[in-house]
Amino acid sequence: MDNILNYDTVSLDEEECALEIIDQTLLPYEIKILKLKDLKDIWDAIYLLKVRGAPAIGVAAAMGMYIAATQIHTDDTEEFLKILHGKKEYLNSARPTAVNLSWALNRMEKVCMDNSGADVCKLCKLLKKEALDIKNEDTEMCRRIGENALSLLKKGDGLLTHCNAGQLATSKYGTATSAMYLGHERGYGFKIYCDETRPLLQGARLTAFELSGEGMDVTLCCDNMVASLMRQGLINAVLVGCDRVASNGDVANKIGTSVVATVAQRYNVPFYVCAPSSTIDTGTATGNDIVIEQRPAEEVTEMWYKRRMAPENIKVYNPAFDITDHELITAIITERGILRAPYDLN
Ligand code: MRU
Repeated sequence: MDNILNYDTVSLDEEECALEIIDQTLLPYEIKILKLKDLKDIWDAIYLLKVRGAPAIGVAAAMGMYIAATQIHTDDTEEFLKILHGKKEYLNSARPTAVNLSWALNRMEKVCMDNSGADVCKLCKLLKKEALDIKNEDTEMCRRIGENALSLLKKGDGLLTHCNAGQLATSKYGTATSAMYLGHERGYGFKIYCDETRPLLQGARLTAFELSGEGMDVTLCCDNMVASLMRQGLINAVLVGCDRVASNGDVANKIGTSVVATVAQRYNVPFYVCAPSSTIDTGTATGNDIVIEQRPAEEVTEMWYKRRMAPENIKVYNPAFDITDHELITAIITERGILRAPYDLN
């Protein structure tokens, strides 16, 4: 199979005015590129995690909003903006926790507001440019996060990551994995551990896949093996991504992140959150104010199994994210620098 890194996670087919994504639900078995033009299909792709990871969702939504804008048939700017706002709100409803979704969509709408005297054709051109800028800036942010994170690591380190904050979650490099890519290029010889990340297995299906495809030394473990690794001294640092950072430094990330952080504190392993500044939400005071997405029970009881692995009608708890308290976080690594407690991100 081709190296997944040869493909763009999210891109715009400018000729056909379509969103192109890798269908991540099929990985690691099949690399299938989807071409989406219909707003409902783009909404579904985000909700069903065909495209996922906070920065990638933001880029996909921005491109989706541009595509939707080109399908509005009116020359009246006011009417255009009203219809576009409805489409923006619809896309924003696909997933609630990652702030990058609303951040990117708000940025797209602001371009229109700042140019409300322009005609519809000009607004569409501006929207296209903004969507492409969001993607290109994401690549640069990830690279800088990687450089900053690498400054905290040493050759031969054992690194643990949770979920997928890799290239498949961003435009390039990933956030938590960026230092791994840069370190790999520079001969750091990291020993990388990915946990599976139940229930959707982003660690096993995506992170283990993309990093091992690059020739890195990657070991997969179940989520409940993390303490065992740390107790043996095999992990020198944990690097994770995030979906939203509150002003006080509390972080929402994939369910299970707070377990890893708690165990890391027990064994004095530094716990680093890698976050583009677009993931910092100064409008959210603490983790208690972050809406946590609840997902279907079948993801826990049936998905990936040949047969259902739970009694019929059992009650299921399936939040997609959890909150890691700021006290557990050694540093938040952004493209602008490394933030440490006390966090005041206003
Ligand atoms: O539900 P997902 O797969 O979208 O969750 C992804 C994560 O939690 C990532 O860690 C986060 O979005 C950061 S991606 C750079």
